[in-house]
Amino acid sequence: MITTEYANGLKDVFSKSFKVGAAVSKPVLEQQDANSVFCADKLIKTHFNSITAENTMKFGWIHPEENRYNWNEPDFLADYAKKSGITMRGHTIVWHNQTPSWLFADGDAPVTKAKLFKRLEDHIIALTSRYNDIISSWDVVNEPIDTDKGDENNMRLSEWYKIGGKEIFEFAFKCMREASPNTKLFLNDYNIECGAKMEANLRYLSSMLDAGIPIDGVGLQGHFYFDFPDEKTLRNALERYSALGIEIEFTEVDISLYRWNEGRDKSDFFTVRPEDRVLDQAKRYFEIFTIARDYPSVKNITTWGIADNHTWLDNFPVKERKNWPLLFDEQYNPKPVVDQLLKR
Ligand code: G3I
Repeated sequence: MITTEYANGLKDVFSKSFKVGAAVSKPVLEQQDANSVFCADKLIKTHFNSITAENTMKFGWIHPEENRYNWNEPDFLADYAKKSGITMRGHTIVWHNQTPSWLFADGDAPVTKAKLFKRLEDHIIALTSRYNDIISSWDVVNEPIDTDKGDENNMRLSEWYKIGGKEIFEFAFKCMREASPNTKLFLNDYNIECGAKMEANLRYLSSMLDAGIPIDGVGLQGHFYFDFPDEKTLRNALERYSALGIEIEFTEVDISLYRWNEGRDKSDFFTVRPEDRVLDQAKRYFEIFTIARDYPSVKNITTWGIADNHTWLDNFPVKERKNWPLLFDEQYNPKPVVDQLLKR
């Protein structure tokens, strides 16, 4: 059910600076409580002016067989965005994860480099010709850098890279620019707000920009923690990326209430929400939104989900471990930080 529009949500408070988005799926948008007072649809209309398909525009979902596309849910989400007068981020074209098995094979043999380029081009043309009127930015290449297990240039040893080389990523951007000239094209990744992976990403981005590859921005996924990042880290990252002269979008923000290495054992799971950490989480959210306002290159802050009743972090990095990483609680009520942000 589509409800009417509401004013004075997060999207209105930050409208002069950036869009406020959320990752969604059809089941999440269709979920209603008995009175439909609190629901994802209503929260979107109130607080968000951008959506991202959490899964269903990824290669393996939307293009499961060479000659079959699965437009059902992506079309639903695109129509929802159009009817709601909001924009959509496209996620994602070239990623090592959630790829269909046919893509890298040709019968019993691996696909040739030339054929992989052709398959990618066909895929790009199909998706852009269908969604050019609603998608304003695309995560063209997702997570190509791997500073742990990558090669000497920190390139992830994905099938894309092993078969297509660096050229496949460059081709993806060029092909997207041609097929979708009015869409902003992003390189998207996680853990690129500090340290070796940030440096590797900055180097990679600079080299692509110097070579004239059409990249409009960097996507900072923003899978953060209640105790990370601090203000200094965040500002430093925004300064470094802004200095490249490209746009910045926070594309997948959520703030875990566990530290990375914590809660690996069932006996260490939180059984109730740890309120002291919710206070730290609030500080993180408050800083991200308010600090981002100081950087004109930031154009979108998208959270990876809407409310704590649906989050991938309930199953990652540990299966069935409850987490509470979003701005709205399991009943769709705003956490106190939303009110603090609304007053800004
Ligand atoms: O739909 C099937 C269901 O039929 C099946 O019964 C069930 C059994 O496990 O799996 C369901 O699919 C799951 C899917 O999410 C939908 O819930 C997949 O197993 C699961 O792997 C998949 O996880 C997604 C993950 O990407 C895949 O790597 C998460 O929802 C999604 O939030 C996450 O998003 C990624 C971004 O695209 C890129 N950045 C990192 C981010 C978090 O990993």
